[in-house]
Amino acid sequence: MLFDSFDLVSALATLAACLVSVALLLAVSQQLWQLRWTATRDKSCKLPMPKGSMGFPIVGETCHWLFQGSGFHASRRQKYGNVFKTHLLGRPLIRVTGAENVRKVLMGEHSLVSVEWPQSTSTLLGPNSLANSIGEIHRKRRKVFAKVFSHEALESYLPKIQQVIQETLRVWSSNPEPISVYREAQRLSFHMAVRVLLGFRVSDDELRHLFHTFQDFVDNVFSLPIDLPFTGYRKGIRARDTLQKGIEKAILEKQHCSQGKDYADALDILIESGKENGSELSMQELKESTIELIFAAFATTASASTSLVMQLLKHPAVLAKLREELRAHGILHNGCLCEGALRLDSICGLKYLDCVVKEVLRLYTPVSGGYRTAMQTFELDGFQIPKGWSVMYSIRDTHDTAAVFKDVDAFDPERFSQERSEDKEGRFHYLPFGGGVRTCLGKRLATLFLKTLAVELASTSRFELATRTFPRIITVPVLHPSDGLKVKFFGLDSNQNEIMAESDEILGATV
Ligand code: HEM
Repeated sequence: MLFDSFDLVSALATLAACLVSVALLLAVSQQLWQLRWTATRDKSCKLPMPKGSMGFPIVGETCHWLFQGSGFHASRRQKYGNVFKTHLLGRPLIRVTGAENVRKVLMGEHSLVSVEWPQSTSTLLGPNSLANSIGEIHRKRRKVFAKVFSHEALESYLPKIQQVIQETLRVWSSNPEPISVYREAQRLSFHMAVRVLLGFRVSDDELRHLFHTFQDFVDNVFSLPIDLPFTGYRKGIRARDTLQKGIEKAILEKQHCSQGKDYADALDILIESGKENGSELSMQELKESTIELIFAAFATTASASTSLVMQLLKHPAVLAKLREELRAHGILHNGCLCEGALRLDSICGLKYLDCVVKEVLRLYTPVSGGYRTAMQTFELDGFQIPKGWSVMYSIRDTHDTAAVFKDVDAFDPERFSQERSEDKEGRFHYLPFGGGVRTCLGKRLATLFLKTLAVELASTSRFELATRTFPRIITVPVLHPSDGLKVKFFGLDSNQNEIMAESDEILGATV
């Protein structure tokens, strides 16, 4: 008996010793890890390094970031200030918030900083993507892409965009169950990118298969770059290879069968524009450009569309005011969307609609920021940013902390009205599409898509939240509601539309 208890005590003592050793080892390795990064400071510069923690060896603070979401940046910003250091996705990183700091980073492209996405993003998007190109090559590629988003091009995409949105809303309304708006908005933006933008004639089955593969790709674009079986990175690479094969097939089929098309899609324009600019795109370039365009449009537009639906649900007075504006412009009549009324110019004339979309993108910014690398050591907010370190300029945190926005957490579209113009108080307080030479190329297309969706929602749909409360918002990898936003859509006959028009007038009178 005595022998047994002795055994137990010694086993416990051994276990305790092991735990203490592991804890000590972890603490020492963590200290060495912090020192390793402190040693990379530029000794010729007298300024201190930004404050912050580099987390644990190799993984850094990646796990904290994934679990805490937007709380991660907010908590560190409060603790260390607008410029702080951390270690994410296998890289040391300096996170930058605030209009003045962001201005310096964005305007310093090609001199102070250069684009550099995390290794996973960079590998998955490929060397020919815009995101990975710099300097003169970047400038030339943007020029080739610019035509895809010109006024004429947008005008020609608009009827197709409207058609895809109308079909989608009909499907949502005919579903007897509530739908997950985020999931369906992802499908909608994928559909828009593949069929409207790229003009691929893929069957519904192929589209579904491409969509699932694309989701695997997007889910792993921001992953630790560890190429081993079962890692997210390996899954992303496999998804990219499958997508490239499918896209090559679709491009070849498209080139052989160009009859019966009533508009030039983005891929047609891209191929033409490449020829005009003396740099015909190879098949590999076309595949990478195609995946990049779908990627850039997919998650961002789906996130913004979901936020738009959520805000219209939360603020019926805003929806009523939107309807009022559509009526005043002859777009909505007797509760029906007038045939052919939606043209690019008429959409651009809708000032309140513009304010609503801008406010959605301010308060629910889909992209949290952009990645750069310091090309030389430079000063930011009194700290040194050492050459070679990654810099992430922050969009969401800059919006959240901008003093120019009164009552910053409130959804208030009127802040963008001509009378208040809060965004005009400084260029870099409001930047949902980034800024400088890498400003979002698709921003006018994205805005057009969101406006068309808002017009269709306001004129042809009735929708109700299917849960008791609004869901929590998650910000990683892009901003979205935790449960996807469960909403019941109802089809409207013209009688219901007229009733809705009347009730809006009453509501409008009380706004
Ligand atoms: C609401 C929707 C969207 C948002 C919020 C958004 C946001 C952004 C942001 C912030 C950047 C700059 C990233 C950086 O500074 O590194 C960017 C770049 C880019 N976006 Fe968008 N985007 C949206 C939709 C689209 C769409 C629909 C397309 C095209 C179909 C597109 C194409 C691009 C491209 C090609 C770039 C890279 C530009 C370059 O590196 O020169 N985006 N976007």
